[in-house]
Amino acid sequence: MARKKIVAGNWKMNLDRAKARELTAAVAARVGEAGGVELVLCPPALYVETVATALHLAGGKSPSGVALGGQNMHDKASGAFTGEVAPAMFVDLGCQYVILGHSERRTLFGETDAIVNAKTKAALAAGLTPIVCVGETLEEREGGRTDAVVTTQVRGSLAGLSAADIEKIVVAYEPVWAIGTGKVATPLQAQEVHALIRSLLAGLASPEVAGKVRIQYGGSVKPDNAADLACQPDIDGALVGGASLKADDFLGIAKAFQ
Ligand code: 13P
Repeated sequence: MARKKIVAGNWKMNLDRAKARELTAAVAARVGEAGGVELVLCPPALYVETVATALHLAGGKSPSGVALGGQNMHDKASGAFTGEVAPAMFVDLGCQYVILGHSERRTLFGETDAIVNAKTKAALAAGLTPIVCVGETLEEREGGRTDAVVTTQVRGSLAGLSAADIEKIVVAYEPVWAIGTGKVATPLQAQEVHALIRSLLAGLASPEVAGKVRIQYGGSVKPDNAADLACQPDIDGALVGGASLKADDFLGIAKAFQ
């Protein structure tokens, strides 16, 4: 069966409550334009409930079909972790997804593969679909270490997961040098790493499972470069930062994946 394409908007630490509502309503109203592509909005944690309300989410389902996700979470269920958000709290507000191990979390907040691994397991246990991010820096790419870095990240972040769990996840390949820089990976550069990730998943689970896992590309995706990425065989969607803050751009990217 063909993998359903998935385009997620990582709003990062942007917008205010009114703008979050406005953007959500604009995307939900036009979701039909992106028919066949799964859309996910990942607002800042504090606005997850605002977006859930704007999507008229009930029991985790929105009449628009747009899904909701977090940007990060703690791996523990509850307790003395000041400032953190537990997996079940996202579930409680109707989230189906959570982004984990984003490069900004890895580089700015010291998240290691072991931390990403613990969070991935916790997300799955709570019933959330983790969007597990991996990707090399410019220095690593120029040093010819892309494959080694991505291999270590994939194996470390997914260590100990059963094949059944691997089947449930989404992986996002986000080369750090392409994030927020306007420098998108060429479709071929992205495809090569996506194929590598799929072969790693085949080794960790099975070729059959690997064939079902959706692998998104992220890093300066815009409506005008999305189509070339979308026609690559192992690119199953996009994780979009800056361009997800405008309904036109976000939907334009989703359309390219139809
Ligand atoms: P940009 O689309 O702004 O480059 O961000 C990509 C990203 O980090 C999505 O998670």
